[in-house]
Amino acid sequence: MKTKWFKDAFIYQIYPRSFCDGNGDGIGDIRGIISKLDYLKDLGINAVWLSPCYKSPNDDNGYDISDYRDIMEEFGTLDDWKEMVKGMHDRGIKLIMDLVVNHTSDEHAWFVESKKSTDNPYRDYYFWKKGRGKDGKKPPNNWISRFGGSAWTYDENTDEFYLHLFSKKQPDLNWDNPKVREEVKGIVKYWLDLGADGFRCDVITYISKVEGLPDGKLGGDNMFTHGPNIHKYLQELYTDVLSKYDCMTVGEAAGVTTDQAKLYTGNGRGELDTVFQFEHVEVNTFAQIVPRKVKLNRIKEVLSKWQTELFGNGWNSLYLENHDQPRCVSRYINDNVDGDDFLRKQSAKMLMTMMYFQQGTPYVYQGQEIGMTNIEFHSEEEHVDVLSKTVFRLVKKYAPFLKGYAMRALAIRSRDNARTPMQWNAEKNAGFSDGLPWYRVNPNYTTINTEEALKDPDSVLNFLKKIIEIRKGNETIRDGRYIDIQKDSKDLFAYRREAEVETLEIICNYKNKEVNYRADAKLIGKGAKIELILSNYQNIAYDQAEYRDFILKPYECRVYSIKK
Ligand code: GLC
Ligand code: CA
Repeated sequence: MKTKWFKDAFIYQIYPRSFCDGNGDGIGDIRGIISKLDYLKDLGINAVWLSPCYKSPNDDNGYDISDYRDIMEEFGTLDDWKEMVKGMHDRGIKLIMDLVVNHTSDEHAWFVESKKSTDNPYRDYYFWKKGRGKDGKKPPNNWISRFGGSAWTYDENTDEFYLHLFSKKQPDLNWDNPKVREEVKGIVKYWLDLGADGFRCDVITYISKVEGLPDGKLGGDNMFTHGPNIHKYLQELYTDVLSKYDCMTVGEAAGVTTDQAKLYTGNGRGELDTVFQFEHVEVNTFAQIVPRKVKLNRIKEVLSKWQTELFGNGWNSLYLENHDQPRCVSRYINDNVDGDDFLRKQSAKMLMTMMYFQQGTPYVYQGQEIGMTNIEFHSEEEHVDVLSKTVFRLVKKYAPFLKGYAMRALAIRSRDNARTPMQWNAEKNAGFSDGLPWYRVNPNYTTINTEEALKDPDSVLNFLKKIIEIRKGNETIRDGRYIDIQKDSKDLFAYRREAEVETLEIICNYKNKEVNYRADAKLIGKGAKIELILSNYQNIAYDQAEYRDFILKPYECRVYSIKK
């Protein structure tokens, strides 16, 4: 059987608003992306996941869509989009679009209609309910929005509430209405016919709600996550549309367990190709915004579990960053290394090595390839993300004494950290825009930028290129079995990938100190050919003798290929 292409893909995520501004208005756009296609090709990636570029009033930067079939004005036109896809395809790069269909914008024509009256033909495209309490002004149930506060907003016009699991400008679509499902199929088909190669399905695990929308546990979570008809709806979408194209899908699946992931991605089930699980990013965050200390043991436990459980039963997505997650060097490395350029680079490379030799489809988020870091916040006003703003609003209303804590927590955790403009060079606005950027540029752009990284043979970028090169066509990485070989170590994350002809041994020192490593004598065996294929320090001996027993330097990582 032919391997589906997504198993050999290396995907680069673009957050268009912050990637590259082509016309100097301070907002990244499609022409900006077009100008960087050669850069992307040179990196070696072969697919792009583009965060939403559809028409949107931007309450949540494009994750609130008002027209699914057109491009956001600030980003350009449909013709620009077509030129971009052609440019990608000409360079062997596929395009994964973001499909945001759990909710629309409240400015979408369907919702504008839906609001008008209880008998409007679009009323049932969304969830409307009478309030509770004597005056009917209490929300219909106890569900909490993902951004905080009740998931319901009252609308005077019809004296009913509508449901929104995110901001009140993102009303939830009612997938139980067959018309809504037909609309979604139409949208999916539209973009596939125009040349898209797949979809990243936004918060897809929320699309099916328990009938009657009853109160639930943990703010209603068990009433809308992996709901009763989720598999049926996904299978329907697959059978009616997706199965007719050579495309891929990846579902965003916060809170998903390995058993559920097997159902979503299992061979022959006809649902999704892969999911983004969240366990390893939740190791050091609680409820999206509360930071906790990084625990290596827990990271190993979680990632190893996903590797073992999905082996032969599904397919993993390998990521540390995206537009919702803080920068990985700032968040996973306990000792703050952001200020030390050498250690920053070493730890960024180590984290890549830890992730990208696992089984699954790897994702790199814009800026991660140069080891971009979180930004410093000095005031509440510097937080522009709708999630952070909601947190500040709720704190002000209900718990003003928590303001200081919220500032500290959001400084580490805020999604704004990942949304600072991409750092292209050391010139004005980091080369992102000739105009005033829509959001602050991280002041460290003078040293951390792609121009610098392309020149420096030791850069994170050139290291990533090597990984991408090694992965290409490597069957051990694609198909080999994963074995955690340092379960009990407090300092090392090390694993093996085993296949017929080759074993790979991946050794990562997670700490800012020297750590001893002793290789498995059995592997060395008689006549085994051992080769160091990747390392983040210079002058490491590449020979057999070195492999037996050695000291790893701070954040050192090595990958050995062992052939019998
Ligand atoms: C997903 C997106 C996030 C957005 C949310 C609501 O989690 O990644 O950016 O805010 O969905 O659409
Ligand atoms: Ca622009």
